[in-house]
Amino acid sequence: MNLVILAAGQGKRMRSDLPKVLHPLAGRPLLAHVLDTARALAREAGVAADIVVVVGHGAAQVREAFAGAEDVRFVTQQPQLGTGHAVLQAAPLLNDAGPTLVLYGDVPLIRVETLLALLRAAAGGVGLLTASVPDPAGYGRVVRDAHGRVTRIVEERDATAAERAIDEINTGILVAPTPQLKSWLARLGNDNAQGEYYLTDVIAQAVRERVPVSGCVAADPAHVLGVNSRSQLARLERIVQRRSAEALMEAGATLADPARIDVRGDMRVGADVFIDVGCVFEGQVELADRVRVGAYCVLRNVSVGAGTELVAFTYLERCQIGAGARVGPFARLRPGARLDDEVHIGNFVEVKASVVGKGSKANHLAYIGDTDVGPRTNIGAGTIVANYDGVNKHHSRIGENVQVGSNCVLVAPIHVGDGATIGAGSTVAREVPPGGLTLARSRQVTIPGWKRPTKKSSG
Ligand code: UD1
Ligand code: CA
Repeated sequence: MNLVILAAGQGKRMRSDLPKVLHPLAGRPLLAHVLDTARALAREAGVAADIVVVVGHGAAQVREAFAGAEDVRFVTQQPQLGTGHAVLQAAPLLNDAGPTLVLYGDVPLIRVETLLALLRAAAGGVGLLTASVPDPAGYGRVVRDAHGRVTRIVEERDATAAERAIDEINTGILVAPTPQLKSWLARLGNDNAQGEYYLTDVIAQAVRERVPVSGCVAADPAHVLGVNSRSQLARLERIVQRRSAEALMEAGATLADPARIDVRGDMRVGADVFIDVGCVFEGQVELADRVRVGAYCVLRNVSVGAGTELVAFTYLERCQIGAGARVGPFARLRPGARLDDEVHIGNFVEVKASVVGKGSKANHLAYIGDTDVGPRTNIGAGTIVANYDGVNKHHSRIGENVQVGSNCVLVAPIHVGDGATIGAGSTVAREVPPGGLTLARSRQVTIPGWKRPTKKSSG
């Protein structure tokens, strides 16, 4: 089967420098959604798919964004003379042995089941996917004869008042036998209001040549919505988000408000997970059973162990958290942070490229960077690991059952032995031996009878 995806249009109404098909929906370009569906369709139908994407406006950017997609061939349409002209550019790459299905890069919610039904309905002839919508403005209308057979499509700008009253619209998606499609495309004219070569005109040609045309009405018009403006993009985003919220709830998560969660990637949840409002999940996110996520947390490529609580306003990126841990509020875990079970990371604590051992705590205002921290260690408020000397980053090791007092500076690279205690306010730059109390601060002195300065009278 040939799959042609049209993605050459400018998308004027987006008012954007970014080609329309690269605008993100649920964190991924529109075109990526259509490509996924095209591949899934071929799998489901059990056929090999020849995917051709027609690019034009911003072609280099689109090709670049999908440079890794080895199963996709690109053709450039320059200039862009209409949807029919776009498919014509792909014609030399289309294999006559299978049918050709045309998809749109800006109609991203189309479902595999809908396309399978279209292929079945077409049964070797032409299949046209239509939809009945309350407000058909802007779309091409499907004209049927007295027997309900599709006779042609008329674009809104070429339609009579009576035709405009038709509420069955052309979704743009169609399937046709490839050799016939090629001959119809070659004979398209552009004598219409927009002076464009319309793909939609192949329908009338098919009817004229008595190739059966089946108009297949989409069960849910939401699936064939196109993105022409930012407002439509926002509407589709809500549809996608609602779907992923439903999937999370089905998997066992309670959402404080399914309308206030954003998933931009793949998210997996265990049973009895609770997610409060306003959270954003990006990339691969895994929450094990009974994880609780407080309001307004951001998680990007994170896995969280069972029973862990992430308290409000926590920002986590590329990190791993064990079970029974507590992180936040206002905590930040940066790439390479790994917290073992039962770790507590409190407010205004930042952890980067570090391992924190089981049961260890840093509850307030601390920075742990490039450091292995053993289990049962406590990092006091205001303590930081000075891991950067202005040129290089250095790695440190803090043992188990260590007590680091408040407001210490641990100058990296440093090793703190097991069971050590470091007094508050110390700046330690040399090896701290195990056990014992290490102090590295000036002794407290008091000058008795010291007089505060008084203000001099001027002049
Ligand atoms: C098109 C259909 C209309 C249908 C609507 C559904 C035609 C003539 N009209 O109208 O019947 O109701 O889609 O959304 O087909 N494109 C190119 N090259 C071009 C022009 C467009 O690749 O020269 C691509 C666009 O990038 C887009 C798609 O084709 O992905 C549709 O183009 P657009 O201009 O949005 O078509 P509509 O006017 O919406
Ligand atoms: Ca147009």
